[in-house]
Amino acid sequence: MTRFLLLLSLALAACDSGSPMSEENDDTHTETTLRALATAKGLHVGAAVAAGPLASDPAYREVLGTEFNMLTAENVMKMGPLRPSPQAFSWDDADALVDFAESNDMAIRGHALVWHSSLPSWVESANWGRQELIAILQEHITAVVTRYSGRIAHWDVVNEAVGDDARRRPTLFNEVIGPEYLQMAFGFAHDADPDAKLFYNDYSAEGLGAKSDAVYALVQELLSTGTPIHGVGLQMHVTTSNPPSMDAVRSNIRRLAALGMEVHITEMDVRIPESPTDGDLVAQAQVYNDVLELCLSESACTSLVFWGFTDRHSWIPSFFPGFGAALPFDENYQPKLAYQVMQQTLSN
Ligand code: XIL
Repeated sequence: MTRFLLLLSLALAACDSGSPMSEENDDTHTETTLRALATAKGLHVGAAVAAGPLASDPAYREVLGTEFNMLTAENVMKMGPLRPSPQAFSWDDADALVDFAESNDMAIRGHALVWHSSLPSWVESANWGRQELIAILQEHITAVVTRYSGRIAHWDVVNEAVGDDARRRPTLFNEVIGPEYLQMAFGFAHDADPDAKLFYNDYSAEGLGAKSDAVYALVQELLSTGTPIHGVGLQMHVTTSNPPSMDAVRSNIRRLAALGMEVHITEMDVRIPESPTDGDLVAQAQVYNDVLELCLSESACTSLVFWGFTDRHSWIPSFFPGFGAALPFDENYQPKLAYQVMQQTLSN
């Protein structure tokens, strides 16, 4: 029997005897949460948080605080939401998220200081000169990182700077400032909070290939110019039909680690058809478990963060029509097979 099948049968046996989630909120429950099990192994297990349900849904808050020891902002720390106008910052939602994390003793990944998407229209629509845009970048990064200095330990400083063609993405920042905007962004963040760990984050750069080679080269280049970069985030938005090879992801993590980088899995979800079969759920559990086992076995991999945690709130159905059910909890906050299998792995 393969290891996964063994885990699957253990997970199913645990379900039959009453899953921890359906028990009363007693000690058994607390000790078997992903959070407790991951903490015991020195791993951060996290979820991206949406501001709406965090504010209004007690069940959402309960599962989030119970099951995870790390969180990140799905949207509210992006420049668009934070900077409705050049003069104003809109801190309320981001503050609420940081307050929640602190009252639940959770680590925070700040996401994301520089991204070509979710920019405010006042930034996107003007014709900036180079110095003007550098000033905006500096002011923004300094204000955000300073506000949460000492409270947010990890920041995605630049998100998705490499395109699908493995070349530097021709974003507003790249075109107006030049590729050195990356060094500047990391430098501004470091000046604002010298203790924060600063990450470069991207998608489709998990395994080996042209894009992950480009990310690796980018990290080398940043290091060679003395840029304060401490880690790389591998987003891991994947499918069951074509998941990255775990051997390739392992090699990639190792070469980044050899450069001194910490690696976080930052946005994992495993999308399956909207109305999944049992087979889809098993295949999904396997992909989640493979990534968890890989992360546990590589000392450079210190955080595994999901892009949400419940199928009730996920970006997948609107961004990948026909797909859904991508997260470890279903729409009613019940743990799915992926959860059960990861729980078995963390218990071992
Ligand atoms: C997505 C959010 O989930 C959506 O709600 C939003 O409309 C667009 O952004 N890579 C990233 C994330 O780094 O910030 C993106 O989040 C998903 C892809």
